[in-house]
Amino acid sequence: MVTYRNIAEDPAYKDVLPEDFVHGYSSASYQIEGGATAGGRGPSIWDEHLQEANQDTGDDACDSYRLWEQDVSLLQQYRASGYRFSVSWPRIVPNGGRNDSINEEGIKYYNQLIDALLDAGIEPTITILHFDVPLELHKRYRSFLATDPRELIADYTSFAKLCFERFGDRVKKWLTFNEPWIFPSLLSMGIVKGFSKRDFFRVGHNILLCHSDIVRLYRSEFQQKQNGLISIALNSEWVEPINDDPRAVKDAKLAIERDFGWFADPIFLGTQTTAWDKYGDDFPRLTQEELALLRGSADFFSLNHYGTGWATGQEVQPNGDPRFNMDEIDKTFVKDGKPIGMRGEEGHPHTVPWGFRKILLYTWDKYCKDKNIPIVISECGFAVEFEQHMSLDKIIDDKARQEYLNQYIKILCDVVREDGVRVSGFYVWSLLDNLEWLSGYGPRFGVTHVDRKNGFKRTPKDSSKLLAAIWRHVVKKN
Ligand code: NOJ
Repeated sequence: MVTYRNIAEDPAYKDVLPEDFVHGYSSASYQIEGGATAGGRGPSIWDEHLQEANQDTGDDACDSYRLWEQDVSLLQQYRASGYRFSVSWPRIVPNGGRNDSINEEGIKYYNQLIDALLDAGIEPTITILHFDVPLELHKRYRSFLATDPRELIADYTSFAKLCFERFGDRVKKWLTFNEPWIFPSLLSMGIVKGFSKRDFFRVGHNILLCHSDIVRLYRSEFQQKQNGLISIALNSEWVEPINDDPRAVKDAKLAIERDFGWFADPIFLGTQTTAWDKYGDDFPRLTQEELALLRGSADFFSLNHYGTGWATGQEVQPNGDPRFNMDEIDKTFVKDGKPIGMRGEEGHPHTVPWGFRKILLYTWDKYCKDKNIPIVISECGFAVEFEQHMSLDKIIDDKARQEYLNQYIKILCDVVREDGVRVSGFYVWSLLDNLEWLSGYGPRFGVTHVDRKNGFKRTPKDSSKLLAAIWRHVVKKN
């Protein structure tokens, strides 16, 4: 049942956000492009892993490699002012390394997309790496698992340099990496055999070192002449103690300091979280020199946020899955028999707007306020439960997604005007129904239905219309 009041019709929300507020959609190359072997693309770790796991693969995805013009038309139709997409490293450098050959066809693909976006008045943001690491680099030195990361840093920074050189005349917003917390979690779930706790920590640590080197390069060679901004997309859910039991309170705090603080503390504060101290030497420490380089290595705070859970303060019970699982904090989405919010597909996420408010205030107070660094919500969205089993009419009439987005954007407006939080953009995940890394095409986050059996036909869902109406109402016109 829909219980909300549409903010697009609420006079109290008219013109609440500034004229230059960017609103749009986010996507990732492997999840939408398909064209796995087209135009000279090399394989990424996902091509191999998903084939092996015999699940859905990204071989076709949403066929955006071919249908990108339709994607741009949809963005126009939805009145988006920004689009965040990622470039596929193996499409541009099929083997990935700094001495390997460059695939000009891959570069051309992104150049066309960037030009079409700009012609349509849509600002591009590029994520340099959204999980799809070239397979060859994984074979050469275990990519992000490398104990000595020097080769990785040199290859990744060289790829980033190529992106700045070829796209930076037109692209003014960059994200070095997407979700350094989720990436090792995905790798741990079967993609790398025998993955250990040390590997988990190593991957996160190496991402920080790569991020710092790429930002150093951008700032020293490109930023001034290209006049752009750079950051990294960090994700965090909100975790609330289920009651006032000190163990629940401690675990809720620890969950955020651990997942979020691992990356946000060095980048925004130049410090290292103590949340991992109990792991001793297994957790690699940043040196003072590394911390000094990381401090301030982001021009805006790019936050991906979806949902909220309760920390119970109880021991995590083994779930019978033999695979490595880093999550040692027990969480639940049900309290006294009631769900924390409306449930999304596979429970990811639940609609908990008050949790969004808490993470926004936490991020602002802890990392941004002092330096007046703006927050950009680089991902936020909802997968309607059981949508994959619905008729097209029901899919289009996506009330649960509309309710989620309406409530979350309302919170965004509230923190801007009531709490003075500076938020400069909001990107809905996602433009299209696409592949979810380990769950295939089941959960659907798109505001556009993609009929994979029927030429990848794109059909707008009603949430796309609601969003256009909301932004028209809440963003001031110039
Ligand atoms: C975050 C990731 O960046 C994206 O790849 C994923 O599809 C969404 N969350 C939804 O789970």
